Amino acid sequence: MKLLVTGGLGFIGSNFVRHVLKSHPSWRVVNLDIRTYAGNPANLADVAGGLRYRWVRADIRDPHAAAECMRGVDAVVHFAAESHVDRSILDAASFVQTNVVGTHVLLEEARRAAVERFVHVSTDEVYGSVEKGFSREADPLEPNSPYAASKAAADLLVRSYCVTHKLPALITRSSNNFGPYQFPEKALPLLITNFFDDQPFPLYGDGMNVRDWVYVLDHVRALEFLLLKGRTGEVYNIGGMHAAPNKELIERVRKLMGKPASLVQPVPDRPGHDRRYALDCGKLKALGFKHAYPFDEALNLTIAWYRANEAWWRPLKKAGGYRKYYDRQYAARLGRHADPSSAR
Ligand code: NAD
Ligand code: DAU
Repeated sequence: MKLLVTGGLGFIGSNFVRHVLKSHPSWRVVNLDIRTYAGNPANLADVAGGLRYRWVRADIRDPHAAAECMRGVDAVVHFAAESHVDRSILDAASFVQTNVVGTHVLLEEARRAAVERFVHVSTDEVYGSVEKGFSREADPLEPNSPYAASKAAADLLVRSYCVTHKLPALITRSSNNFGPYQFPEKALPLLITNFFDDQPFPLYGDGMNVRDWVYVLDHVRALEFLLLKGRTGEVYNIGGMHAAPNKELIERVRKLMGKPASLVQPVPDRPGHDRRYALDCGKLKALGFKHAYPFDEALNLTIAWYRANEAWWRPLKKAGGYRKYYDRQYAARLGRHADPSSAR
């Protein structure tokens, strides 16, 4: 099988590329990735020299590049996106451009190239905050952040290409991923890497927002499974079956790392902060998918990975763009009392 992966230099995409190249010795992967701040060639340094992997540095919004990358490809797995909710609150334009316009360009070129499968990687955030019960695939979309809205718009475009143009596409919606190679602006790697340096973690609001956590290696296994066994036109939820309020998860990590409670510092809440996400994953399970990583084991593996890979995350935390973004964020959120450096 020849695959086009978009966003393969990012967190989940790079884990997916590594996984499929290892599991399928005859598969080849083209990785279309423009390398934003979140894209990092180091994430795939171990496969980069091989004949079965090629990175094309281009924008998914570029129809020529997309068409070129789709030549001779059997299937597309589409990860490329702006993915951080906080950034979408500060500036939503790139989210609309990449997540909506970019997805449209890929759908159009996939239709022209007559690919046999298009897997669109989406998120549980499109369902909005679920106070009770669990989101099922047919539930209405009620996105609340500009990020979630841009992903929901992309989901609807995928659906329309499937119905109108018979594009053999399917949509996956996963919960919060964690694991190796996650950019240290997201909650868990920020927490772990700040704790290594005895720096505080800024806890948004009352810390009672509930997220479901899926280990990235289980997520990429589920994507591989659906690429091969999923049905065209369907949506599949991919959860981790491990939901917890942020406070509880943070407390667990704090104890595992032996750090003082004073390192968890409440800050004003994220605007529009969804209270709870919860996925019903019965449809995926009914197809026969089984998780391989118990949560505790995955959390320990993740902490151990960041401990062993300082050379990967330190430069990212030092980089100017990263600081500038957080400085703006904290200045905006905490007003004149803000001391951005106190939160990292
Ligand atoms: P990420 O931010 O780590 O990586 C995104 C990648 O896309 C980067 O390599 C970046 O360079 C690339 N990219 C961005 N804009 C591009 C463009 N215009 N053209 C080409 N490449 C571009 O993201 P992630 O956390 O790995 O998420 C991957 C996908 O999974 C996203 O679609 C996201 O919405 C979805 N998702 C993420 C999570 C999560 O917990 N991280 C959960 C559910 C769904
Ligand atoms: O639910 C799936 C989504 O998970 C994906 O679609 C997104 O791409 C991904 O970024 C993630 O979104 P979240 O907003 O849930 O993830 P984040 O890591 O930013 O935050 C997780 C929780 O922790 C959330 O309730 C906000 C809180 N938080 C986050 C940060 C960065 C804090 O309390 N403090 C922080 O500094």
